[in-house]
Amino acid sequence: MKRAITFGLNGQPVTLDTDDDRTLLWVLRTDLALTGAKYGCGEGLCGACIAIVGGKAVRSCKTALKHVEGKEVVTIEGLARNGELHPLQQAFIDHGAVQCGYCTPGMLLSAAVFLRDTPRPSRDAIVAHMERNLCRCGAQQRIVEAIESAARQMGGQS
Ligand code: FES
Ligand code: FES
Repeated sequence: MKRAITFGLNGQPVTLDTDDDRTLLWVLRTDLALTGAKYGCGEGLCGACIAIVGGKAVRSCKTALKHVEGKEVVTIEGLARNGELHPLQQAFIDHGAVQCGYCTPGMLLSAAVFLRDTPRPSRDAIVAHMERNLCRCGAQQRIVEAIESAARQMGGQS
């Protein structure tokens, strides 16, 4: 149904007049020009499209806009604050945890929520959590190392 829908986006209110059944992924990419969230499988399986909605990491390819209404959305474009990279972003750079980069926004947002909820994770817990995000380049080991490093650096802070 076409109607006005308001939500927060990286700290700013946004109102769109559009069909509330459209997916958040396509609204972000085509209406709002935020192309960090990627289209991978379109089936909720790969994690390339992850955004944070209401504090949860969600697969935006499977999230209808009506389920976003009134909530705060954080995309990869909003992860850095005040011109400073999130510790996870810096750790991905330091550990070379990026190859083509297609999976990276989803990896970072998934990991950010994970570290917020699990501030001192074991390596096994990181591996288990990140298995739900796919990397076609085989960078998974470096990604896990980067998340371990960021967790150490953050020292339990989110
Ligand atoms: S594109 Fe959404 S989970 Fe793969
Ligand atoms: S770095 Fe290419 S898909 Fe992960």
